[in-house]
Amino acid sequence: MSEILRASGLYKSYKMGQSKIEVLRGLNLSVQSGRFIAIVGASGSGKSTLLHILGALDEPDAGSVEFEGKRLDKLGAGRLNQFRNKMVGFVFQFYHLLDELNVLENVMLPAMAQSGIVGWLKRRAGARKHAKSLLEQLGLSDRITHKPYQLSGGERQRVAIARALMNKPRLLLADEPTGNLDSETGNGILKILEELNGNGQTIVMVTHDEKNAHRAQRVIRLADGKIV
Ligand SMILES: Nc1ncnc2c1ncn2[C@@H]1O[C@H](COP(=O)(O)OP(=O)(O)O)[C@@H](O)[C@H]1O
Ligand SMILES: [Mg+2]
Repeated sequence: MSEILRASGLYKSYKMGQSKIEVLRGLNLSVQSGRFIAIVGASGSGKSTLLHILGALDEPDAGSVEFEGKRLDKLGAGRLNQFRNKMVGFVFQFYHLLDELNVLENVMLPAMAQSGIVGWLKRRAGARKHAKSLLEQLGLSDRITHKPYQLSGGERQRVAIARALMNKPRLLLADEPTGNLDSETGNGILKILEELNGNGQTIVMVTHDEKNAHRAQRVIRLADGKIV
């Protein structure tokens, strides 16, 4: 197994008026390709902050993130966008689907964002086929023309997972993916993550829930701004 992700000496703080909240304080983390790891920590411990930094949705104050041996802060703007769009897939607690688009369109969005209009016209049919097959794999074939607001929470999260997988990311980042779901529905989502990992998908999930965390192969803990 090779190392896909490495975080070294990450620091992140937020200024709130006079006070400063130090969220990450010299955090180190290494993730091997093909693993499913869970990071557990109390609410407010910095899990979302960390995940956003790992997925280049935010920058650390100090320290670095390497993806497949390349430092994210050394990539130019274009390469960094490519990294966000193609290398990582994000699943959020509150799904973040667009209610104006139907299920199929939501899933196709990351592919659409990848190319200019001419490129898109060429790739559209293939993208549609891939999106449909992902939705089928996730048991949503009969929901593709629904709008997100017409779906249950579990169905919405499955759409969000399909969207995250659309560009075949090397790394899936999941931020409390079951946090808004009842335990049975949440179980279904965890099972999907387990299956994806069984097929080789590398996954980093953050959660405050010990029981969920233990569905992963490796559980690590975030406290006092570090992995403990
Ligand atoms: N944009 C922000 N501005 C100010 N404080 C923030 C911001 N984002 C997060 N925080 C604070 O940083 C801490 C960690 O937040 P977060 O990473 O969301 O924790 P978790 O996901 O583990 O609940 C919390 O105290 C939170 O209030
Ligand atoms: Mg959070």
